Amino acid sequence: MASRARNPSHWAGNHEFLITRVEPSGRGSTRAASKLSRLLQSFRRHWKTYTVALITVLALLWFVSKDGATRGGGSRTAFFAQSRRGACPVAYPKQSIKEISKGRMPYLLGGKPPGCKQCQAKEYISEFCQYGMVGHGQCDDGQRYYLTQLWLDREFHSILQFTPCDLWPLLKGRTLYFSGDSQTQDFMIAAHCFMYEFTDLGWRALDAQGKTDGPKKEGFVWHTDPGCVLLPEDTRICFIRCDEFECVKKEVVERLAKASEKRDLLVLNFGLHFSEAYEEELKLLVQQVLQLRRDGDFPFLLWKDTAPQHFESTYGEYPQDKPKPPMKCVPIGKNFPPNEGADKWVLKNDHTVEVLDDEFKTIAEGGWRNKITNDVMSKAGIPVVSTWNETLPLWDFHRDNGHGLECTHFCAPSAPQLWLYLLYETLAELAKEKRIETF
Ligand SMILES: *[C@@H]1O[C@H](CO)[C@@H](O)[C@H](O)[C@H]1NC(C)=O
Repeated sequence: MASRARNPSHWAGNHEFLITRVEPSGRGSTRAASKLSRLLQSFRRHWKTYTVALITVLALLWFVSKDGATRGGGSRTAFFAQSRRGACPVAYPKQSIKEISKGRMPYLLGGKPPGCKQCQAKEYISEFCQYGMVGHGQCDDGQRYYLTQLWLDREFHSILQFTPCDLWPLLKGRTLYFSGDSQTQDFMIAAHCFMYEFTDLGWRALDAQGKTDGPKKEGFVWHTDPGCVLLPEDTRICFIRCDEFECVKKEVVERLAKASEKRDLLVLNFGLHFSEAYEEELKLLVQQVLQLRRDGDFPFLLWKDTAPQHFESTYGEYPQDKPKPPMKCVPIGKNFPPNEGADKWVLKNDHTVEVLDDEFKTIAEGGWRNKITNDVMSKAGIPVVSTWNETLPLWDFHRDNGHGLECTHFCAPSAPQLWLYLLYETLAELAKEKRIETF
């Protein structure tokens, strides 16, 4: 795929190739006195090549200067989809671990590629997606460097070097739907932000027919109505806010059964707004989705597990006495008996959790919610984006919700960006196993 964007030296070499090529072709075989006549002779000899090159450059410029392709955008999309297969529309040279350990910000945490365009825009999404803003639920710069260090220390290099051009071939040509509660909304925003150089920095309402033909709207898709961000080559990232099963049934399952395609992806999580019937509802939902996919067009379903919370309670959950922010967020188990102050688990470099105290064994099972959902999903053959383990140590990355610190939602960029990387890993694995197609 994006081999040019992956390797900075190769990319620079390409550029040089274009410049030096013009000179020798004139110099070697003529004695023309002036540079101009050499150039003219060269042009006469190679006019076909130059014309083709010029037309290609103009066509590319025309394509890039227009906003991202719209769904069903006609022949332009089809033409370029063919000619640019395999290429990443934005250059994201791979960052080395050495550069990152010297302070270069990973793309996932807001690092900018050289020559980026949307990063120059003076508007909210552009500024938000570069992170480090004060307020707006963002982490401060210190937290971004601390998170980088945390991953460097644990040799989690792949996440630090992750580029939008790695994700692009897995998204290209389809709609990626996110549906769920406010955590999933943060997850969708992480995806929107990571890919913001590919977008027009706006969103469009998603209608009942699955179309996004309406006007561009400002800001992020929020939790009012379903909406999408448009990317080139018939690609979209959409969000349908649903906290509970009833909504998922109506707004996601019924809607997408009528207005989506088999090649699309649906990333689903609802877990924090838990009901008595959760397990039964989930089983029903999964069977329904599998049936819809067998019978016709319905997206490929991925379940995202429920991330840990870090309230001051035994397993980090919101305490029974319902305290109000500002609250103190803490590492799960550490300040609880037995052995107050002692770590109760440790996250290993291979992403597994080792429990140090039997009392806390549900930590290794992903907490009680995920224990239930992981079981339902694995029995149904639905892939799970497992975020629990790697989110455990992020107790210090929660955010102020306007009334003070609370310990469910995370500041950006932190946990939601981690989940995006883990979604990428899951999709890459599915593509390798040929369970999803790439276009
Ligand atoms: C999380 O940790 C548990 C316990 O060690 C392990 O069984 C599980 O495979 C880990 N999950 C991931 C995604 O690595």
